[in-house]
Amino acid sequence: MNLTINSPFRYAGGKFYARKLILEQITPHNYYIELFTGGGSIFFAKPKVADNWLNDIDIDLINTYKIIRDYPNELIDILKGEVATKERHSFYKNDFVPTNDLERAQRWFYLNRTSYSGIMNIKNCYWGYGDKYSMRPENWGMNITRTSKKLKNVKITDYDFEKVLDELPENKEIFIFIDPPYINADQDKFYTYSFTRNDHDRLQKALIKYSQKFKFLLTYDNSSEIWKLYDWTKQILEKEWNYTINRTDDQKKNGNGINDVKKKGERYKGKELFILNYKSNYFEDLVLF
Ligand SMILES: C[S@@+](CC[C@H](N)C(=O)[O-])C[C@H]1O[C@@H](n2cnc3c(N)ncnc32)[C@H](O)[C@@H]1O
Repeated sequence: MNLTINSPFRYAGGKFYARKLILEQITPHNYYIELFTGGGSIFFAKPKVADNWLNDIDIDLINTYKIIRDYPNELIDILKGEVATKERHSFYKNDFVPTNDLERAQRWFYLNRTSYSGIMNIKNCYWGYGDKYSMRPENWGMNITRTSKKLKNVKITDYDFEKVLDELPENKEIFIFIDPPYINADQDKFYTYSFTRNDHDRLQKALIKYSQKFKFLLTYDNSSEIWKLYDWTKQILEKEWNYTINRTDDQKKNGNGINDVKKKGERYKGKELFILNYKSNYFEDLVLF
């Protein structure tokens, strides 16, 4: 199944709004890898190739992907009749103790779909569902089914990124999309696993070491440190895109300090660096005479 679909999850730092800009930079390949999959917006938006590998260190996220791939009907059944309420959210967050992987996925899926911005870091996991703006529980089954079809035969792992780079297959045309947590941001608020300065350096060293084996597109926040770390690559593009915030991502300040700045319906600009170890053939300003 080669559908272009949306991510099954809500995900902080997701690349949903930058999909077009990213897809147009991707070159032909037969093995596609994401090292920091998160919500996987790019994988779900692009056509599948012969081999596909999704990786993220977050074991609960990855368990949910695997359950969706292998046991979609069981997950649909266990979530059947579920309602999106603050009480259920609090139950899943504080009281529900999963006893197996299916129940872990049930809890993760419920909380992801009903929490503010899909933030799953338990310190910042707050109720954030709105009937008008969020996917309603009656549509979760359809979401799981179509995601499961797209995930068929996809390799899914919960490794540290370096292990993936150490285990790359030979004789494939590999393209890796790399979307690590920002270097200058309070990403610790969003993700369950924090990414330290040492991890950023590890990533740079591993990419230098293995860069001949694959093409990569790496996205980062625009900072002088990143320009320095990646001055050996072929191209660094400064990219901007627009997005708006809907109500579920705009509830009143609830003490978590994450959503103080954003206002409903306002337009925002995403600004990032796209770092490539190849020369892209795509020039948006190209004029043909
Ligand atoms: C910016 S998010 C990725 C967003 C994703 N591209 C999307 O569109 O939804 C970064 C991800 O890196 C993961 N991560 C953090 N440390 C990692 C590590 N050492 N190895 C692999 N993944 C890691 C986090 O769990 C998080 O899901």
